Amino acid sequence: MKVMVTGGAGFIGSHLVDRFIEEGHDVVVVDDLSTGKKKNLNKEAIFYKVDIQSSRLHRIIQKERPEIISHHAAQMDVRKSVDDPAFDAKSNILGLINLVECAVKNGTRRIVFASSGGAIYGEQVTFPASEDHSTHPLSPYGISKLSGEHYLYYYQKICGLECATLRYGNVYGPRQDPHGEAGVVAIFAEKLLKGEQATINGNGMQTRDYVYVKDVVEANMAVINMKANDTFNVGTGIETTVNQLYKHLLEITASDLKEIHGPEKMGEQKRSCLNTKKIYKDAEWEPTVLLREGLENTVAYFKEL
Ligand SMILES: NC(=O)c1ccc[n+]([C@@H]2O[C@H](COP(=O)([O-])OP(=O)(O)OC[C@H]3O[C@@H](n4cnc5c(N)ncnc54)[C@H](O)[C@@H]3O)[C@@H](O)[C@H]2O)c1
Repeated sequence: MKVMVTGGAGFIGSHLVDRFIEEGHDVVVVDDLSTGKKKNLNKEAIFYKVDIQSSRLHRIIQKERPEIISHHAAQMDVRKSVDDPAFDAKSNILGLINLVECAVKNGTRRIVFASSGGAIYGEQVTFPASEDHSTHPLSPYGISKLSGEHYLYYYQKICGLECATLRYGNVYGPRQDPHGEAGVVAIFAEKLLKGEQATINGNGMQTRDYVYVKDVVEANMAVINMKANDTFNVGTGIETTVNQLYKHLLEITASDLKEIHGPEKMGEQKRSCLNTKKIYKDAEWEPTVLLREGLENTVAYFKEL
């Protein structure tokens, strides 16, 4: 089967590419390398360095004719989306429309879309949030991801494109970029390993649902060949505070650095946690990597760099 992975040079996308290749699929990667890295690229994949907003994408999809597209390319930094909402919307909404238009015109059967359970529900009312929780995103990034879901619903209903949406929790693991604003595990792990002080925003009691990248890849594998057009949360159902996360990482890195708190980030969500009963029931997926084990693997990766 031919699969196109947009964002295949990035953190999650590159792990997914490796897994598809391991399964014997032909893989095409589309990535503009804005945050993705050449060193993440699997040598067995065909690579096109291209922005998903570009008209060149039409020629690429016309030539490659992927049966399935896994859409992971996105501007994924919540802070950046607040600073420049138009940039976020161009990449995450106009880019998605360009991609899906090309897909529909060239016979792509199915799209799997990487959405965000952390961003689209907004400040949660019930815990953990199931897929039918109200959606009131509190950032332009959350809005653009939710818009992507709405566009895919339209393409599915009107154009017959099969679509599955995966709403990820906070994904962490090897290859995550420690230099951005997103990815607190990577940021803390790298700093602690270098003996540099990390700062926790606010009182550190904000919670997130941390899910290991290998589990996220398996969630993608579980829905890639389903016939269903559906939306699934991908998380663990467990809330972890930033303080707890920091404590784990202090222990794993054997660091004696202190817990230092900075000012609260304006607009940051307080609690986030996803109910994953639906994907378990429909696709038999459940997370397998415990937080401590995933953090240990991640620290081991950063130690090797
Ligand atoms: N990491 C998380 O916790 C998380 C949570 C929810 C959803 N997601 C979604 O998962 C996907 C992958 O995220 P990630 O954490 O691997 O981030 P990432 O930044 O490592 O990956 C995104 C990739 O897309 C590429 N890209 C960005 N804009 C592009 C464009 N306009 N054209 C072509 N390529 C472009 C980047 O170069 C990068 O390789 C994103 O869609 C993100 O919104 C991530």
